Amino acid sequence: MRVFSGSSNKPLAEKVAKQLNTNLSPLEIFIFPDGERRIRAIDKVVGQDTVVVQSTSPNPDVAYMELFFIVDALKRSGARSVTAVVPYLGYQRQDHVFRDGEAVSLEVIIETLESVGMDKLITFDLHSIKIPELFKIPIAHLSALSIFAEKIKELYPDYKKDSVLVSPDMGGIRRIKILSEMLSNMPFISIVKDRDLVTGNIESNKIDTNLPDFKKEVKRAIIVDDMISTGRTIDAAVDLLIEQGIEESVVFATHPVFSNDAINILENSKVSKVFVTDAIEVPRGKTFPKLEILSIASEIAKNLRPVQQVQSHTEELEV
Ligand code: R5P
Repeated sequence: MRVFSGSSNKPLAEKVAKQLNTNLSPLEIFIFPDGERRIRAIDKVVGQDTVVVQSTSPNPDVAYMELFFIVDALKRSGARSVTAVVPYLGYQRQDHVFRDGEAVSLEVIIETLESVGMDKLITFDLHSIKIPELFKIPIAHLSALSIFAEKIKELYPDYKKDSVLVSPDMGGIRRIKILSEMLSNMPFISIVKDRDLVTGNIESNKIDTNLPDFKKEVKRAIIVDDMISTGRTIDAAVDLLIEQGIEESVVFATHPVFSNDAINILENSKVSKVFVTDAIEVPRGKTFPKLEILSIASEIAKNLRPVQQVQSHTEELEV
């Protein structure tokens, strides 16, 4: 198997290749003065299974164009299969028509990827569980939730007594239920969030909970979300939780999109820790003291290993 990397998240691609006991295969990505890209697979890939790692943030349009060309280059060069690892699938929030006259951008992206020859997609924590239905090819929808569960157990051994899981909106309730099961049915609540579709402003928040006396017993809120984009959802959630008497809030989110003023908002917010994954590369200029990055590389590698190798890896762990 040959592993290639687009230019959006090379550190993650390198970690995945290392887990698979290989190195990244060389790819020529040449940018012309007018911004166009020329892609060329340097080594022979005839008859080989290939993998391309490419996150689609920041600059989703450039990242997608590059991915289309890489898949096309590999297919034209005779690769037997191309698996695209797109940990963060950009445009996923445009998966249906919200208002008359809108494009369904995600569907356009999927059709293009399928038409250039992508054979399988591996992605993480999609915004909606309906998205996989839009694909005609196989898709592995993986999750960082098990990584989050391990971290919660390690950091907060009394989590069942002193913490509550919080979904910052009703759309995230399924995710919270899965995590709660992983953590021996840890209690959870959800916030009701309204977002203005035109301005993106978060207009009102209230807690929707059936949890008896949760305010008296719970010291810590563990907010879990699929992504942090502007950071406004988290900021508003933390303020509301403080109003409700919660002393400490931490957040776990798979995708650090960190757009606009997100870093400032998170640094100045009363959230005490922000855990994200390397599904999107966080450049040095966007890190801050409260931030900790967990890696999804081994989850990806597990999914790429041929069955035989998975077995021997499990045996190694058992020794
Ligand atoms: C929304 O439904 C998502 O689950 C996230 O809560 C949202 O996309 C985060 O966006 P932002 O950080 O801009 O509030």
